[in-house]
Amino acid sequence: MSRTPIPSQARPRMILFSARQYDIDTFTDANTAFQYDLHFQESHLDADTAVLADGYDVVCPFVNDTVDAATLERLHKGGTRLIALRSAGFNHVDLPAAQRLGITVVRVPAYSPHAVAEHAAGLILALNRKLPRAVARTREGDFSLNGLLGFDLYGKTVGVVGTGIIGRCFARVMAGFGMQVLAHDPGEPSAELLALGARYVPLDALLAQSDVVSLHCPLVPATRHLIDRNALAKMKRGAMLINTGRGGLVESSALVEALKSGQLGHLGLDVYEEEGGLFFEDHSDTPLQDDVLARLLMFPNVIVTSHQAFFTREAMNEIAQTTLRNVKAWRDGAPCNLVDAPHA
Ligand code: NAI
Repeated sequence: MSRTPIPSQARPRMILFSARQYDIDTFTDANTAFQYDLHFQESHLDADTAVLADGYDVVCPFVNDTVDAATLERLHKGGTRLIALRSAGFNHVDLPAAQRLGITVVRVPAYSPHAVAEHAAGLILALNRKLPRAVARTREGDFSLNGLLGFDLYGKTVGVVGTGIIGRCFARVMAGFGMQVLAHDPGEPSAELLALGARYVPLDALLAQSDVVSLHCPLVPATRHLIDRNALAKMKRGAMLINTGRGGLVESSALVEALKSGQLGHLGLDVYEEEGGLFFEDHSDTPLQDDVLARLLMFPNVIVTSHQAFFTREAMNEIAQTTLRNVKAWRDGAPCNLVDAPHA
């Protein structure tokens, strides 16, 4: 994506949408080195709330903000020239529209692959050893083991879909458990994973042979519903599916049937197709309106976390630092983690 003219004012005026206390804390701390005119807005960004960014040359959305053409047009009218994403994923941005309007888009390509990889491993362990159920049981004074039987990860096969920064980190962690690693990625095989003993195979073979399948590819048109009804049917019966990538990688409506029939043995989701407007918020006082999610949450062999895989102290600090550095680099005309439109 091309770089737009840099505004002349001395201090960038930057507004963060969907800002929570943890964003305020980490960005305020990181900003001591930059001294930008930084503002925090709790509202979700969309075409209606874009007016709040009038006069801000830099807008910083989060993953569930709506950065579609209508929003970008309204932001552009208000003087926004840079979208500084505080995420690695950029599937929520209409890149052709940004390009047409001359708005530059930058992102944080890598902050802590360990945070996401370790969370994926955490989901696997929690599902396999039924830790939420075990904790609830012992709190109630029930020390029985019925229903808590797990399996050794050692010697089993993990399928890693997408061997970029996070997928490679995850594969290393799982190889540490003694798992065989199968990998699928349309890009070049990773020499590091090959040295680890990983085998690159087509997706169908990975699905058929893996005891655990974990998704680490981006959400782009080609990967939407990568795991659909057919793909679920190709998995080993009773296998585990982990998604810490993006919700749209999995056809959510197909999951319920696969779980009911036992075809899918365990499911760990950190991201959900319809998470927008739901995740990152406390909705505990209102009835859940999403029937698929409500059903998924009732299965004992399903764990859903609220897009928290990135959420470690180290990752948050790195996100804030890189985002603010991107803004400086953009203004200085230096390399600044531009989002590449053709990959969108
Ligand atoms: P990356 O860009 O380093 O790696 C992505 C890999 O996926 C690349 O090697 C690419 O070739 C591969 N890929 C593309 N299409 C594929 C396909 N059809 N099948 C298999 N592989 C394919 O990205 P990184 O940093 O490893 O992040 C991966 C994804 O994780 C991000 O796009 C983002 O959506 C998600 N993520 C989730 C977080 C969370 O908190 N849950 C936090 C950070 C990232």
